[in-house]
Amino acid sequence: MKNKKTYPAEVYFKDQWIKPEEAFVSVFDRSFMFGDGIYEVTPFYDGKPFRLQEHVARVKYCLQEMNINFDASILENLMLEAVKRSSFSKEDAAVYLQISRGTAPRSHFIPEEIEPTLLLYAFKVNLANFEDRYWKVMAQEDLRWHRCDIKSTALLANTMANDVAISAGYDENLLFRNGVFTEGSHTTIFFVKNKTVYTHPEGRQILSGITRKVLLEICRDLDIPVKEEAFPVSGLSEVDEIFLTGTTTQIAPVSSVTIEGKEVFAAQKGEITRLLQQEFVKKTRGQ
Ligand code: PDD
Repeated sequence: MKNKKTYPAEVYFKDQWIKPEEAFVSVFDRSFMFGDGIYEVTPFYDGKPFRLQEHVARVKYCLQEMNINFDASILENLMLEAVKRSSFSKEDAAVYLQISRGTAPRSHFIPEEIEPTLLLYAFKVNLANFEDRYWKVMAQEDLRWHRCDIKSTALLANTMANDVAISAGYDENLLFRNGVFTEGSHTTIFFVKNKTVYTHPEGRQILSGITRKVLLEICRDLDIPVKEEAFPVSGLSEVDEIFLTGTTTQIAPVSSVTIEGKEVFAAQKGEITRLLQQEFVKKTRGQ
């Protein structure tokens, strides 16, 4: 089911806190015209940020890759302030931020004199009790570009893939390219086979998920073997468990995968997914 979202009461726009209905971008903003911008989503558990510096580091990486001249050192404080101002100081929440390259007369080449546009706001999200929500997913060809490591606001291929899945009653769309899984429309994919965890290596074909990094740390701590290698679609019949990770998804067990109308994987949550979920909750809730 498509879930209803609401607008935040307040946003940080350019250099001030204002009501969203007072925040306007030019029709010549390059994010509007080209999707020329980057974004980030950072979680807050019980009002406390989780891996804040890593999220900011990813913003810096993306700014650098896109050659956007923006001082990201202001973001940490603004994110903390957003949560405080929205009275989520003791609740689960997340902060969305995006940096557009800015406004200039339309041209394919990137103008030298251009001022980036920042948008940032906190929103309520339920991060509790995620463990037993099984995700029924479909899979299809990955139609995105070859710089998926950049968290670009140009998400059309992701939103179209997600919408195909949600409209057909699935929870996510897993993407594959050249016969191997890359990632989900908004999640990282993990497979468990013979007690070894597999996930796509970092690089241009996937986003370097912060939750992915946390999972790899947990596997290391628990001595669970990990192979960072692309997993073939043809190998699904040998898979014991599949789970998806992401900032708001956390660790979602997959109960079914359908490709071209045919169910190619079915399972209940296995022991490794359960173990990883338990350790993840300890880390995020600080127990
Ligand atoms: N999505 N891959 C893609 C394509 C994503 O969009 C995301 C996150 C991830 C997981 O990354 P992380 O663990 O750092 O959240 C992987 C965010 C939350 C979003 O678009 O809302």
